[in-house]
Amino acid sequence: MMTRYAHIVGWGCYLPDRTVTNDELSQIVDTSDEWIYQRTGIRTRHIAAAHETTATLAFEAAARALAVADMHPSQVDLIIVATSTPAYMFPSTACLVQDYLGATKAAAFDLSAACSGFVYALQMAAQSIATGSMRNAIIIGSETMSRVLDWSDRSTCVLFGDGAGAVVLKGSSIPGGVMATTLRSDGSGADLLSLPALYHNPVPVMGAEFSTNGHHKNIIDMDGRQVYRFATNVIASSIQDVLRQAELTADDIALIIPHQANTRIIETAAKKLKMPMEKFYLNVEHNGNTSAASIPLALCDAVREGRLKPDDNVVFVGFGGGLTWGASVVKWGVRPQEAAPSGNEWKRVRYVLARGRSRLRRLQRKVEAIVTGRSDNGKEPER
Ligand code: COA
Repeated sequence: MMTRYAHIVGWGCYLPDRTVTNDELSQIVDTSDEWIYQRTGIRTRHIAAAHETTATLAFEAAARALAVADMHPSQVDLIIVATSTPAYMFPSTACLVQDYLGATKAAAFDLSAACSGFVYALQMAAQSIATGSMRNAIIIGSETMSRVLDWSDRSTCVLFGDGAGAVVLKGSSIPGGVMATTLRSDGSGADLLSLPALYHNPVPVMGAEFSTNGHHKNIIDMDGRQVYRFATNVIASSIQDVLRQAELTADDIALIIPHQANTRIIETAAKKLKMPMEKFYLNVEHNGNTSAASIPLALCDAVREGRLKPDDNVVFVGFGGGLTWGASVVKWGVRPQEAAPSGNEWKRVRYVLARGRSRLRRLQRKVEAIVTGRSDNGKEPER
């Protein structure tokens, strides 16, 4: 079979309008702008409005990425949403996005790898394209972290933010795109950074303790110091691994886009790698830690600032709960003039139509159920 390369041909981001500064946080917990900025590099973060969900954020980012790629939703074969904050276990966030986009020929699923989710998803999609089973894919990192924070815990609530970022991958026989990836995990560190699922279904026979999976709140729990140490080690090791795999050296890399957790973590990793900080792209100051969304959000800003040119090698490196970590080397192939989406506004009409088609499909199912007179389990009605 001919080798297919998965090229990034579109990118898009969405950040909720509402921003919250460190000073605002100091009014709800015992903290200060100085403490937060010195320890993390964060000044502000975006917080989703009540009507926004992980799926609506993801949709906005994906629609923008498709506009840059100049691709119709019906051309998309695969949608992966990397998230730790889905509204439902099922339907997946990806299925909701599939519906909002009207991507009628796409497979869709969510991927759980915490803050490494974007790098994991990129590799899953790139491999699907490399084997020829998929041609075009959308990879989205989307999070509403504000919904899983304990807003009275100053050690975690100051760190995170909401947002979504997406890339469109397209198969091509031209070498480039996702060139090498390393993915790793270590479940022995599961307790260092966790977000419990809550089961609300009481099991009276088994006793009350079985009603909540042993957890009483689905909020983030973190051992900050241990996570810090883990992160600085794996950023360095995974960048070294992926460069070896791609047969490149640090000098061949134009830009490293790390998961945006904390400026000090990146500075320590850069020192370990003996690489200048100028090679690391950072926007954590404005967004906080947006988990799986942080790398594509940073990519959007890097492109907007002209930090990537055709044939540049860019490294994405992620790390987070699980524990999980991974890195990808991508050969950037987009020329600056191709990066400006055209006719963006009228393209949004297709998403209004997609919502209409979705409503019609639901109505059609109801009508079919009435007309056929079948009961829900598909058995013939009794005569
Ligand atoms: N404002 C003011 N003080 C705070 C605070 C806040 N927001 N959060 C914690 N503190 C206090 C602690 O209570 C502690 O006080 P004490 O000495 O009186 O007990 C003190 O600051 C030091 O706490 P510590 O947790 O040791 O701070 P730290 O230097 O390790 O910094 C983090 C804390 C969270 C910033 C740091 O550990 C970190 O960045 N870890 C990685 C987190 C991360 O990126 N996670 C996501 C990875 S995907």
